[in-house]
Amino acid sequence: MRNDTDRMMDLARRALAHFQARTTDQADDIMRQPVAAYCDPARYAAETQRIFKRLPLALALSLELPEVGSWRATEMLGIPVLMVRGEDGRVRAFLNACRHRGAPVCPEGQGRGKSFTCPYHAWAYDTQGALVAVYGEHTFGEVDRASHGLLELPSAERLGLVWVALEADAAFDIDDWLGDFADELAHLDLENWHLFEQRDLAGPGWKVTWDGYLEAYHHNSLHGRTVGKYTIGNLLLHDVWGPHQRITFGRRSLAELVDQPESAWEPEKHVRLIHSVFPNLSFSGVVGDHLLVSQLFPGPTPATTLTRQTILAATPPESAEAAAASRLFSDMVLQAVRDEDYDMGFRIQAGLRAGGERDFLYGRNEPAVQHYHRMVAAFAETR
Ligand code: FES
Ligand SMILES: [Fe+2]
Repeated sequence: MRNDTDRMMDLARRALAHFQARTTDQADDIMRQPVAAYCDPARYAAETQRIFKRLPLALALSLELPEVGSWRATEMLGIPVLMVRGEDGRVRAFLNACRHRGAPVCPEGQGRGKSFTCPYHAWAYDTQGALVAVYGEHTFGEVDRASHGLLELPSAERLGLVWVALEADAAFDIDDWLGDFADELAHLDLENWHLFEQRDLAGPGWKVTWDGYLEAYHHNSLHGRTVGKYTIGNLLLHDVWGPHQRITFGRRSLAELVDQPESAWEPEKHVRLIHSVFPNLSFSGVVGDHLLVSQLFPGPTPATTLTRQTILAATPPESAEAAAASRLFSDMVLQAVRDEDYDMGFRIQAGLRAGGERDFLYGRNEPAVQHYHRMVAAFAETR
């Protein structure tokens, strides 16, 4: 892997060339897709089954599971998942369902403990999923504990993320899945941030929502008063690694580079990187020492989603100044996403109810949106 300065200098050069020519990376053609791809329930069921239930998904940051006994419980497509760091330091994922009669052994959310006691009849499991106590066993009858641990799901911890497949037979090799994109994610150094804040946002449907994470075409028009202030609208660099993508935006300060010799450049100040992991994870370095992590959870219908927004700060908010900077960043991305992107998305979603024979268009200046929809089609058909 080349060092980060070379990588960032390349990106700054490419962005500056587009800025000066008023151009952007482009796809070969305009792409069209019937709006049924956004709202047909049968298609939604088939696509989410083949994509979200069978591919590895990053369901937690390692930062959320810092110590032995740290756990995070969440739900994806109605499947309750429990991730926990065991005594041996390894994170495992389980179906959050008791082996007696299926109650979740812990509530959604996060915490830390030595064991999980089911709230229904008090069977207990350790941090590695083993059944360790059967309440009133002398009355219940003998249970073979070794074969009644929590059902384990395929998982791996890599690059500061906990990857999980939702179905027990969907084993994966995380290195194969990420390929060379792992080098890109390594640059994010995800183990070494401070988790400032996390929240869940209700959003419109999966594809309406995710499209907004993949282009710069809307930045001036929709985000002129928030994140758009910092970026050059309708300019992006597009790079792909299999299904995964990196999108690079130019910051407005790119203009300063026109008159500077390259030896004086500080390229990381003038571009903004977005790493988009297929199918539902985005890392966006909006300004300075903060990173916005967005995890998309498709809802029970094609019309709704939940987005988990995690705000990472380079340093803990130890001084009032650092705390204020993190607060400002967090509030700004909340406003941009909830009040601008999702407000627009809900209105788009409402219009989808009308149906009708029509297509959505993806411009040549929206190559990452095009790539995403091609990948959805490819995975939904072939897996
Ligand atoms: S369902 Fe968990 S102990 Fe009965
Ligand atoms: Fe947006």
